[in-house]
Amino acid sequence: MHGFAYRNGSLFCEDVDLQSLADEHGTPLYVYSANTFRDHYRRLDAALAGVDHEVAYAVKANSNLSVLRLLAGEGAGFDIVSAGELFRVIQAGGDPAKCTFAGVGKTREEIEYALKQGIYSFNVESEAELRFLDQVAGDLGVTAPAAVRVNPNVDAKTHKYISTGKSENKFGVDFEAIAELYDRAAAELPNITLRGLQMHIGSQLTSITPFVEAVEKVAPLATALKEKHGIEFWSIGGGIGIIYQDALAAGSVDWWDAQSEQDRPLTLTRYGKELVPRLKDLGLKILLEPGRAIAGNAGVLLTRCLYEKQGSAKTFKIVDAGMGDLIRPALYEGHHEIIPVKEPGEERRAVDVVGPICESGDFFCQDRELPDFQPGEVIALMSAGAYGFVMASNYNSRPFPAEILVDGDKATVVRKRQTFDDLIAGE
Ligand code: LLP
Repeated sequence: MHGFAYRNGSLFCEDVDLQSLADEHGTPLYVYSANTFRDHYRRLDAALAGVDHEVAYAVKANSNLSVLRLLAGEGAGFDIVSAGELFRVIQAGGDPAKCTFAGVGKTREEIEYALKQGIYSFNVESEAELRFLDQVAGDLGVTAPAAVRVNPNVDAKTHKYISTGKSENKFGVDFEAIAELYDRAAAELPNITLRGLQMHIGSQLTSITPFVEAVEKVAPLATALKEKHGIEFWSIGGGIGIIYQDALAAGSVDWWDAQSEQDRPLTLTRYGKELVPRLKDLGLKILLEPGRAIAGNAGVLLTRCLYEKQGSAKTFKIVDAGMGDLIRPALYEGHHEIIPVKEPGEERRAVDVVGPICESGDFFCQDRELPDFQPGEVIALMSAGAYGFVMASNYNSRPFPAEILVDGDKATVVRKRQTFDDLIAGE
């Protein structure tokens, strides 16, 4: 389910007409649905109801303060990957004691800041980092709560740039080596409290199989670490995939909860049904770190068509958003459904939708059969709520778009469009 649908021939976000938002605030424009964020958070929470758990939203997916505030209000914890993300969570009213801090390259400044704020756990990715964490905590005269990330060497079967759980990826500590690392830490690092175990095998997983494989492989390790070192939590990471291909249609059906025995789509019901029985008797608190599953289908990027160009080989629709606003197609060959805001007829044409940036990789689709739309019309790039705005850049000196949060019939600007002065501030 999500909050985007055609009503009387025009695309709406909840009770707000997207054409009017584009006319009032200009394009490119990110628009989010508050009730979709809430709904996805609650469904995830419910899917794990059979086990002691906490949903720690992966802030990197969409870190707008208003989004974080909304999720903090739902009771979410937060998985952060930088001091900047922790700062955002705190500014949004989130509780540092519900934050886990992931990432392979934490600096002294970041560790000190997080220690002072009292986060729940550092999710450590190497022995060197664990030793450094011990040293920094010692310098401050405190102990640091830590979990080590295990790399289970499981194939997540997703795009190679977002696969993290194989031995060749830079993430985590090898499965075979990790038990001894806990032993060494307990013996040699007086300023570390071993609080948990963490894993995350990749993002945009559309099959339950790799999750089951990883949980089954790592569960005995989690149990052993609990018995020997008294760990209290196991974070099984994020990675639940969403629907990109038919994103609009997915909004009106309850696919997220369907009793699907198929792997595609991977529904939350199936996720809970397969994982809860494997987790509930471990006596550990289970943490989830979903980003995309909460934010992905909760946002769209609106862009206006500027020109049509008929080349000898192709038809190009040139729009006012580019890879600087949404980089997923260029970086991961990501598919975002493209639909006109004015509900189209049946006719389809094969076109490339491209941006204004001086790069051949600046496209949103190539040779895709799309409903026809004309220069001046606004189109929506669906499923842009996760890894959209957060990955934006000012390349070609293009200001960041504005962001709007819709809640029912209310639309709020939650981030202003950058001005030219913003662009050069600090230079
Ligand atoms: N936990 C850890 C340790 C992570 O590294 C990630 C994502 C998550 C949780 C959240 O994963 P999710 O539930 O969102 O799949 N920019 C890419 C995705 C990068 C994911 C990085 N890590 C994209 O646009 O597809």
